[in-house]
Amino acid sequence: MLSIVSVQAGGVDEDYEYGEELYDLSCANCHGKNMQNPGTSSFNLKEFPLDKKERFLESVSKGKGFMPSFGKIFDPEEIEQLWVYVSRNHN
Ligand code: HEC
Repeated sequence: MLSIVSVQAGGVDEDYEYGEELYDLSCANCHGKNMQNPGTSSFNLKEFPLDKKERFLESVSKGKGFMPSFGKIFDPEEIEQLWVYVSRNHN
């Protein structure tokens, strides 16, 4: 019980840090370190519309175009953490 409470109290900063780790491992090679688009054709995440969280969750879990799907690699909570990271680094 106590541990559940403390996980929930972890809050957004912890989510951000996990999100950053997941991003560095799985997204940075295509979308660029710190979301700086390396100038390849991949989507510029700094311009992803902030009001389209549902679309983010869906594209990341199912994949889109040349982007692989991550739904089997990450659980929904981890994809939420990625969203925290991406939405905070928005332009
Ligand atoms: C193999 C390279 C590759 C990797 C790895 C990758 N992406 Fe992508 N991503 C792309 C490409 C290419 C597109 C453009 C897809 C399109 O619109 O055809 C894209 C598009 C996106 C979009 C926009 C989708 C939309 O709805 O328009 C988001 C959000 C995104 N990526 C997030 C991520 C996240 C988060 C990760 C890490 C979990 C990640 N990507 C890993 C290549 C990659």
